[in-house]
Amino acid sequence: MPIMELKNICKIYGSGESRVAALNGVSLTVGQGEFTAVAGASGSGKSTLMSLMGCLDTQTSGEYLFCGENVGKLSEKRLTEIRSKEIGFIFQSFDLIPGLTALENVELPLIYKGMPKNIRREIAACALEKVSLGNRLYHFPSDMSGGQQQRVAIARAVAADPSVILADEPTGNLDRQNSAEVMRILYDLNSRGKTVIIITHDESIAACAARTVRISDGRIISDTKL
Ligand SMILES: Nc1ncnc2c1ncn2[C@@H]1O[C@H](COP(=O)(O)OP(=O)(O)OP(=O)(O)O)[C@@H](O)[C@H]1O
Ligand SMILES: [Mg+2]
Repeated sequence: MPIMELKNICKIYGSGESRVAALNGVSLTVGQGEFTAVAGASGSGKSTLMSLMGCLDTQTSGEYLFCGENVGKLSEKRLTEIRSKEIGFIFQSFDLIPGLTALENVELPLIYKGMPKNIRREIAACALEKVSLGNRLYHFPSDMSGGQQQRVAIARAVAADPSVILADEPTGNLDRQNSAEVMRILYDLNSRGKTVIIITHDESIAACAARTVRISDGRIISDTKL
């Protein structure tokens, strides 16, 4: 069974004068363990696609199945469960909580999962060690470099052991060296079985992915596999 199956998805924002058709009939199937890049110009619909795939928003029309479940028909409770257990999110702006240490930031999704404190601490520390931040557990985001903050965000995304990682321009605010490091970590996670979907408008990053889906004006214009 595919992990994600989008069938003729349309997403319209607003109405009347401010109506925007962000996605126009997108059909896409993502299999378990794939590494997919979604590329396209600014405003083409990439982030909209990602919020739908991540069950953060719902389509205006069409059907979306996540692991066979019809997302449009799920309860808010089940959607929250899918988002917190099955999907790890990474964003361009890191989105760490400023008042929490690296360790506490990574622990957060585990709290939502209902995990006891000592186990949580151990898993969070281990996730930070895997991204080479074992020596930054008690640092606050403001005391870390952009590359380090993004690695904390990756640790947070994978701590709860989700099956899918959705990354929206994860290297958008990073220099070349830090981008390469983030990509290396994502490839490594993929080689250990995680399905990774990365949104980018950086062609050199898209070129490295096993599969590249290109969108333009809310439509898929190409879908190539290496
Ligand atoms: N919440 C919203 N309300 C109204 N229009 C929106 C909303 N979010 C996105 N849009 C519009 O939908 C279209 C697609 O936006 P989206 O954010 O998906 O693009 P993108 O490909 O991620 O762009 P970028 O590369 O700049 O991040 C754009 O025209 C945008 O203005
Ligand atoms: Mg975007």
